[in-house]
Amino acid sequence: MCGIVGYIGNKNATPILINGLQCLEYRGYDSAGIAIVQNGKINIVKDKGRVSNLKNICSNANLNSNIGIAHTRWATHGRPAKINSHPHIDNSGNFAAVHNGIIENYNELKEFLTLKGYSFLSETDTEVIPNLIHYYYTNIISDNDKFLKAVNSAVDKLRGSYALEIISSLYPDQIIVVRKDSPLVIGKGNGENFIASDIPAMLYYTKDFYLLEDNEYAVIYKDNITFFDNFLSEHSKTIKNIEWDANATEKNGYEDYMLKEIYEQPNSIRETIGSRLELGEKCSFDDINFTLEYLKSINKIYIVACGTAMHAGLVGKNAIEKLCKIPTEVEIASEFRYCEPIVDKNTLCIYISQSGETADTIAALKLAKEKGAKTLAISNVIGSSITREADYTIYTHAGPEIAVASTKAYTSQVVLMVILAIHFSEILGTSDKEYINKLKSDILDLPAKIEVILSETNIIQEFANKVYTEHDMYFLGRGTDYDVAMEGSLKLKEISYIHSEAYAAGELKHGPIALIENGVTVISIITNSNLVEKTLSNVQEVITRGAKTLVITNQKLTNTDFNFVITIPETNSIISPILSVIPLQFLAYYIAKNKGLDVDKPRNLAKSVTVE
Ligand code: AGP
Repeated sequence: MCGIVGYIGNKNATPILINGLQCLEYRGYDSAGIAIVQNGKINIVKDKGRVSNLKNICSNANLNSNIGIAHTRWATHGRPAKINSHPHIDNSGNFAAVHNGIIENYNELKEFLTLKGYSFLSETDTEVIPNLIHYYYTNIISDNDKFLKAVNSAVDKLRGSYALEIISSLYPDQIIVVRKDSPLVIGKGNGENFIASDIPAMLYYTKDFYLLEDNEYAVIYKDNITFFDNFLSEHSKTIKNIEWDANATEKNGYEDYMLKEIYEQPNSIRETIGSRLELGEKCSFDDINFTLEYLKSINKIYIVACGTAMHAGLVGKNAIEKLCKIPTEVEIASEFRYCEPIVDKNTLCIYISQSGETADTIAALKLAKEKGAKTLAISNVIGSSITREADYTIYTHAGPEIAVASTKAYTSQVVLMVILAIHFSEILGTSDKEYINKLKSDILDLPAKIEVILSETNIIQEFANKVYTEHDMYFLGRGTDYDVAMEGSLKLKEISYIHSEAYAAGELKHGPIALIENGVTVISIITNSNLVEKTLSNVQEVITRGAKTLVITNQKLTNTDFNFVITIPETNSIISPILSVIPLQFLAYYIAKNKGLDVDKPRNLAKSVTVE
């Protein structure tokens, strides 16, 4: 959701900015633009559409400058259009800004500026920012740090969320940045510096990063960066070295990032397991130190997340309740924020977020902290906002996930939640040792079992070929199979645009079965030996009403009425979602490909949902 890039150094800024924007395309956007300072003036090139379109326009625009800011816009205020694209410039033409986030009081500020004689071209909330900077700039008497002071005065008036980059034709040697509740990182080079919404966009140039905090300002020159707090007191900041390989952000021969990420799962899971789980040893986490006393004091665990991360939380809840006997609730972050949750110092709140930048999840975490709860973040992105807010963080280490549709992050989140549940249960002594040892060995076997599923995709492709023109599909399951059904349904919706619903199989007769008629597609997941017969009866009920069925199972089923069956390796039902989700990821992928859709960048979606 909105991507920001900036460059200052000795090189031509435009190709670096365009390359950065291309790296951020996965975040989701509808228009793109850049601003540079050239011959003492701000030059802006922007348009609706893809970065490739912007690149073409730039190649004919004779742009040459060592400083620039750039942006991909995901429309919030104002339709996707050239006029609403960023960067935006003030009336005097001296200040240009790009913005990620939402300015909630922009109408109020617009009225104020209009009374002062300013006019506006766009429908955006952002356009007030460069004008406000200009207003304060002309009202500051002192000459010292006038640009920074004007930015600070303007930012002081903003309500909402923002990551901002500002350049000025009057200060062609500096870029000013500031953030609040929207991500921004600064990459340190040699005689050059970079700015971006996230780390992968800069991995080609540097591995040294400054992670900007909320309400922190940076004034960035080509060979120097100074940091200030909200009151403009200068402070020093520690650099962070990020080990990610730039190659990890390439497609490496795969047609799409999503396909690559599906195939990466054996390895990403190995990385998630790391040294946290070893046979014959107790599970260990370097990053948390929960004592028996603390774990005994917990009256409830909340797992809070959005979308796929929330689905991983559902599987985590099952593991925690089974192994630790602690009541656990899973809540959608956007609901948790406003439902007045009953949370106190005896509640542990776990927040799962691949990006670590999801606005709702971060807000839900802040709320629980205010109420005195302990907060634990599970994220894939080192140093992301959520990890800086939480009391504790554990990383999934799944490697960069670029495709909007989350695949490897989900399986890593589930693995991590289960290892965490084992860890808690080992401290609490709530689980049978033999059972835990077997579960541990099942977890260690997961990568090899996934490899088996990855090598046999022909049935799923055949099924996708048959059903890709349909308008509705239904997913059924019980227990953790229902958790996976929800994830399979979400995956299908987001990349193939086919309407789908997931139902707890036992709930079918209470309404949804009215939708089942001749030819409707129903996908059932059956992996829990205790529930096989129950779910099979429900599948039989839809077959009787003419449904076309695909069954994903690790059981030996004798029923031959199913149209398609995919057999996956057997494992403990606590972790079976990690295996059963993979055919569902492929199903969504192949259906979307058959429909000729862009699987990596589905319409209307953004990888990091940084606004409410
Ligand atoms: C997953 O396929 C989705 N794109 C989406 O549901 C995602 O999981 C959700 O937005 C949460 O993102 P996060 O993990 O980065 O917080």
